[in-house]
Amino acid sequence: MLDFLSTSEEQTLAIATEFAATLKAGDIVALHGPLGAGKTLFSRGVTRALGYEGPVSSPSYALVHEYAGRIPVYHMDLYRLAPGADWEEIGLAHYLDGAGVCLVEWPERLPPGWSPFTHHVTLELAEEAGENARQIRIDSNTKPETT
Ligand SMILES: Nc1ncnc2c1ncn2[C@@H]1O[C@H](COP(=O)(O)OP(=O)(O)O)[C@@H](O)[C@H]1O
Ligand SMILES: [Mg+2]
Repeated sequence: MLDFLSTSEEQTLAIATEFAATLKAGDIVALHGPLGAGKTLFSRGVTRALGYEGPVSSPSYALVHEYAGRIPVYHMDLYRLAPGADWEEIGLAHYLDGAGVCLVEWPERLPPGWSPFTHHVTLELAEEAGENARQIRIDSNTKPETT
């Protein structure tokens, strides 16, 4: 597990950039943390680092934005997904097929037991360290690949 204290947007983007260098097509990243923690900003850093140069905005209304970088990025925000919604029917499941990197905000909205994630990133306000401070924890599944 990696544990960072970011005290600025720039630092969060730098941490996201370093993290992105460890990602490959097929990875599925859960982004945990409350509203305003920085999940979308972190996602922007990852998306840019993977070679997409245009604007990266919150997919909270569209549910998913696709970015054609060096590695494709599918950035989802499931906040508005109703509990119990059939998310496969909504058409989100096909993004998990390995063609790109999936970044998933509000992964808690997925059906129980549905956890295809290869990485978990948790962002939290760290108010004691200042208004712009965030704690960022990164967990990567380290299971060896089966042959
Ligand atoms: N160190 C920091 N890391 C990330 N965001 C920060 C930081 N300091 C301030 N912010 C601000 O916090 C907000 C985070 O918003 P956003 O990324 O949309 O959060 P979320 O997607 O988790 O709801 C932005 O307005 C951003 O400018
Ligand atoms: Mg967001």
